[in-house]
Amino acid sequence: MKDATRLTRLGRPHDDRGLVNPSIERGSTILAPSAAQLYNFPEGRPHYGRVGLESQRSLRAALCELQGGAGCALTCSGMMANTLSILTAVTAGGRVLVSDSVYGPVRGFVLNTLPRYGVTATFYDPHIGPEIEGLMTDDVQAILLESPGSLTMELQDVPMIAEIARRKGVISIIDDTWSAGLTFKPLQMGVDLAVQALTKHAGGHSDVMMGAVVARDEVMADRLREMERGLGIVTAPDDSYLILRGLRTLELRMQRAAQSSLRIADWLSSRSEIGSILHPAHPSHPDHQLFKRDFTGSCGLFSVTFREWNNKHSIRFLDSLDLFGLGFSWGGFESLAIHCDPQLKRSTSRRRHPGALIRFSIGLEDADDLITDISQALDKMSD
Ligand SMILES: Cc1ncc(COP(=O)(O)O)c(C=O)c1O
Repeated sequence: MKDATRLTRLGRPHDDRGLVNPSIERGSTILAPSAAQLYNFPEGRPHYGRVGLESQRSLRAALCELQGGAGCALTCSGMMANTLSILTAVTAGGRVLVSDSVYGPVRGFVLNTLPRYGVTATFYDPHIGPEIEGLMTDDVQAILLESPGSLTMELQDVPMIAEIARRKGVISIIDDTWSAGLTFKPLQMGVDLAVQALTKHAGGHSDVMMGAVVARDEVMADRLREMERGLGIVTAPDDSYLILRGLRTLELRMQRAAQSSLRIADWLSSRSEIGSILHPAHPSHPDHQLFKRDFTGSCGLFSVTFREWNNKHSIRFLDSLDLFGLGFSWGGFESLAIHCDPQLKRSTSRRRHPGALIRFSIGLEDADDLITDISQALDKMSD
């Protein structure tokens, strides 16, 4: 079955009443049929609201099926999915290797919070390649990948790193939000835990925040569940329903945004102001070969550098855009743009692309309208 078909069928209700979507059940208390069953609920029946009711169960099952995983934890945000996956993998005295292009707040968590629990972090250049093995000293317990990386969009050789990690007994984790687990299948490439900010593509309508961690095998799923339960994580039934609803149209929306973003990237590449097009699906992207090898499609999120610009130019450009909103999320129906330089932090890797960095999230508008908008904003730069 292809994913487009799978997305119309996964996460159906667990009963036989014929509805194609799960019901939104609200509840904390669930009464036991008898005292004898209080500590021994009937098979498959939740015993308390926190373990998740119908919509959460359906969404977890759907994400496992889409990504080929053995277990799934839902979290209140994509950020929390990242922290949950790290906490699942590390113990005091351990070390985590972190891609230098990781999502900014995760950088903050591993630098500021993990040391309080006796865990240290070492950043590595996302382009380190097989030399990553040299960093996997005995205290390394986990490696955190993000591909493409936040803002600068580097691709990592995920199967190679996952194989080295497995050989060294290191748990591999990837923030795979860019592909939504649809156009790239990290668990099938040997990664242990795949993180999704469901807030982005799966939600798709900029009205819900949620995250998920999907585990590759039963052992990792048990470990993940233990940490999820230990932290008392629960998501709202309504929000879980909205994410599942978003999954139905995920492929269509991503394809449309991918097509438009590539067209806009191509148009931008002919402009003299542009330095680099950091769109993995664009042939000029430095890691385009990896994209062609590992991905079946892209999405609306990409960055570009403007060779001669500084932050002031970026601000002027953004303020001249009409159709693009200025906001931090992405993967929604509406196009957004941000300038990245104020939040761009790197520990090991050099800045490869000089100039000001702007990130676009292309939504469902007509691509020609978006090009017209960017074009008029660029024209104003020379006024
Ligand atoms: C790559 C990536 N991962 C995780 C997150 C966090 O997701 P959330 O905003 O749902 O916490 C973001 C948010 O922008 C992101 O870009």
